[in-house]
Amino acid sequence: MQFLLLSLLSVAAFVAAATTWIIISTIHLGIPPMPSSRKVRRAVLEALSGLPPGTRVVDLGAGWGGLVVRIVRERPDLVVEGYERSPVPYLVARIRCAVTRLRRSAGHGRRHGRARPGPRPGVHFGDFRKVGPRDRACYITYLSPEGMKWIRELFERHLPRDVVVVSAVFAVRGWTPLRSIPVPDMHRSRVYLYELK
Ligand SMILES: C[S@@+](CC[C@H](N)C(=O)[O-])C[C@H]1O[C@@H](n2cnc3c(N)ncnc32)[C@H](O)[C@@H]1O
Repeated sequence: MQFLLLSLLSVAAFVAAATTWIIISTIHLGIPPMPSSRKVRRAVLEALSGLPPGTRVVDLGAGWGGLVVRIVRERPDLVVEGYERSPVPYLVARIRCAVTRLRRSAGHGRRHGRARPGPRPGVHFGDFRKVGPRDRACYITYLSPEGMKWIRELFERHLPRDVVVVSAVFAVRGWTPLRSIPVPDMHRSRVYLYELK
């Protein structure tokens, strides 16, 4: 009985600590770790359809890792990674990536007739604003109107070459998208694709 009570108290303390961390990170970053919807993810995958195999794809704000894992499953030929600043979602994203990796090396995820498992997916802990974009990569964002401001400022400061930016739901003001993919949801969302040469 005492053991059960202690276990319950530990679980409650863990949940309370994790929730507090999530709230503090959300206030600090101004963005909650809200996962993108299935429909938005499908539109993101459509935006990635033109990327050649081996392209580095980075989810800026990977949240719980759902989008990273979905891309890895659908496009095992891409080199998928993410950055996440909020500790609790980051840990979950790391675990999900590790499980995906294990499954893949065990022979799962070999869809689309591709015989070999692709490169290892991974999520890094950190603030992407301190890392900055690199050349020849595709960056995915699902942030907020405020987040799009720092995205624009960051990319215009670093001026990476041969870069694709795929922004779910929020457009980058002042940039003209090469494509804008409608999402069949009640908000009439869109996924925007930008090319920076
Ligand atoms: C709306 S969620 C998107 C999650 C995921 N990309 C998806 O589509 O399911 C945005 C995430 O970005 C993270 N984030 C916001 N600013 C960040 C930054 N500067 N560096 C790294 N992560 C950031 C937040 O912690 C949050 O988890």
